[in-house]
Amino acid sequence: MIVIDKENRVFTLRTKNTTYQMKADQHNVLIHTYYGPRVGDSDLSYLVRYADRACAPNPPEAGLDRTYSLNTIPQEYSTCGVGDFRLPSIEVEYPDGSRAADLRLTDWEVERGKYELDGLPFFHGAEGSTLRLYLEDLAADLVVELTYGVFEDCDLITRSVEVHNYGKAPVRLCQCASLCLDFLRSDLDLITFNGCHLMERAPDRAPLRSGIQGVGSVRGTSSHQHNPFVVLCDRDANEDYGLCYGAMLLYSGNFQALVEASQYDNARLVMGINPCQFCWTLEPGQSFTAPEAALVCSPRGFGQMSRQFHRAIREHLIQDPHAGARRPVLINNWEATYFDFDADKLVDFAKTAAPLGVELLVMDDGWFGKRDDDNSGLGDWTVNQKKLPGGLEALVPRIQALGMSFGIWIEPEMISEDSDLYREHPDWALRIPGRTPARGRNQLVLDFSRPEIRQHVYGQIKAVLSSADIAYVKWDMNRSLSDVWSAALPAERQGEVYHRYVLGVYEILDQLRRDFPHILIEGCAGGGGRFDAGMLYYTPQIWCSDNTDAIDRLRIQYGTSFCYPVSAMGAHVSAVPNEANGRVTPLETRGTVAMSGTFGYEMDPNQTTPEEREAIKQQIAFFKEHYDLIQRGDYYRLTDPFANGPYTAWEQVAPDRREALVSLVSGTIHAAAPFLTLRLKGLDPQLTYQVNGGASYPGDALMNAGYPVPVMTGDYQSLQLHLTAL
Ligand code: DGJ
Repeated sequence: MIVIDKENRVFTLRTKNTTYQMKADQHNVLIHTYYGPRVGDSDLSYLVRYADRACAPNPPEAGLDRTYSLNTIPQEYSTCGVGDFRLPSIEVEYPDGSRAADLRLTDWEVERGKYELDGLPFFHGAEGSTLRLYLEDLAADLVVELTYGVFEDCDLITRSVEVHNYGKAPVRLCQCASLCLDFLRSDLDLITFNGCHLMERAPDRAPLRSGIQGVGSVRGTSSHQHNPFVVLCDRDANEDYGLCYGAMLLYSGNFQALVEASQYDNARLVMGINPCQFCWTLEPGQSFTAPEAALVCSPRGFGQMSRQFHRAIREHLIQDPHAGARRPVLINNWEATYFDFDADKLVDFAKTAAPLGVELLVMDDGWFGKRDDDNSGLGDWTVNQKKLPGGLEALVPRIQALGMSFGIWIEPEMISEDSDLYREHPDWALRIPGRTPARGRNQLVLDFSRPEIRQHVYGQIKAVLSSADIAYVKWDMNRSLSDVWSAALPAERQGEVYHRYVLGVYEILDQLRRDFPHILIEGCAGGGGRFDAGMLYYTPQIWCSDNTDAIDRLRIQYGTSFCYPVSAMGAHVSAVPNEANGRVTPLETRGTVAMSGTFGYEMDPNQTTPEEREAIKQQIAFFKEHYDLIQRGDYYRLTDPFANGPYTAWEQVAPDRREALVSLVSGTIHAAAPFLTLRLKGLDPQLTYQVNGGASYPGDALMNAGYPVPVMTGDYQSLQLHLTAL
């Protein structure tokens, strides 16, 4: 709900549990007065204090009042060059070479429903509401439109920024952040989610220290290394207690999330496109839209924050028809065959997998052009007739006849030098004139900022997808961008290429989605190198990591779960020893971990024993039976796998709290094991729950006293407890 006190120009955004407030002050500067647990709608600007601070510039409107300085007041969208020396949100270069932005509120509008964005991902839903605030730089004919979306039930507040040049000369946008959030305190911890290929999104928590700290990416993707999601929280916040703020950016390219703890113990978070390598020219009459950002404030710890993000992503980000639809249990041939497969081998996979309950066969990399290894073929999106005689027209009906649907892998953004496409259009790869471009996985990157290039590639892919009944596409991307320069833009606009590349990817994904709405698209970038809310708008699920080892996955999925729901995390059971780390884990454990993701298999089903096939059949039946609970239930992290405790546990609880599933995976085993109890969460304290059809326990006892964890023998065992209310 949006409440406006017109007289005092106070703008309050109200969600179920939180309040967010701004106010245009006596000089029309938009100050940020409050964000936190729900309070009334009264003017909270009494919290902002003024004092004469030496060396702080005072804006002209302040006259001789030396207590009023932009450098000390909490601002809604920080400016630059005119007296605020903290992190800027916007930096504009004018034709005279000056760099400044000085904003004053001039107008506002409220709209029913949540606003939409053109060409960028956004949260959507008629039940949302929209507030638009217009800020003008009076010296420059520049208007900054700050737009807010409010989803009350999810406690979600979205933000977007549009800059309009109403002047007569072009200006250059050197920075245009999506989000600025000022705090009247700096005694906060910052949590970021970091890693590398094969070990993505490990939470890293540290108290704010004086100065600037943060994360970002200059790889052209959101990256394996840092995620465009950060948390600021009370120093003593934990899963169930304390105030915390989650901030996400719906963007899949270079981003930056910085926090500055400043001299008077205030803090400012600024998040948006990374200004490094970014500069956008705005001609007169043109506008620039920054990607959407979204915030959840939880007064009750990380768990509640995560569950609100999960819900918002499931209900307001994922698009139909996939938002509410059941996702198929799949089998992917990659780890089983790599490039060494043909139609008969795939049919043999399906013959064994279908009776086990697997619903979709995914043919991974290697089905097109000349592609027997990863050194060639990218860009030639025509079926390799030697591997698949008769093309997909012949193969897909054979798979369907076995009762399964069919999906394929693509990597549209890439080009191999050993490809017909490269021989014909060597100039289509990103490269800087006079330099030989760096290869990554022995491939180059197509200049997706150019419409004719992306349309050519899409044309080929569309023909393939139209040639047979394809139910699923895995959109991969296996290297970071380097040598970024586009032949289509003049020298002074090369700072636009990274962002135009991302917009190009979004445009093709959107076209793919519109042309083939029934196709489920899974995002992927060397595993989890582009796992962000921007991609989730187009690809309802994303391959979480190339690391399929169940024990490493406990950490990867734990970190990912702080922002992203189970239904977004691509997770498969693979063969042992695991290809990434050589670890051997029981099949049951691999199933327990993978089914807290989108669930599938990535192994040769014909290399399994009859006992293993029976176990797989039971896993799939269990998953299907509890699909809604697992995929749409409220998610609780019960332990932290980074704490190296005896086990890792998590839980899904049905919205009506009458059913829950607890999953537990043990670590390495020791003799004389202590007796452990696990305290559950989210149950109804008034109800009694039966566990796995056996003994029953009161909900309050299970949550406060706990459940006795059976003593397990052998490393990496797992346990699933299905609780039903009596
Ligand atoms: C990287 C992906 O993460 C893998 O799952 C697989 O699809 C390979 N690429 C194929 O090249």
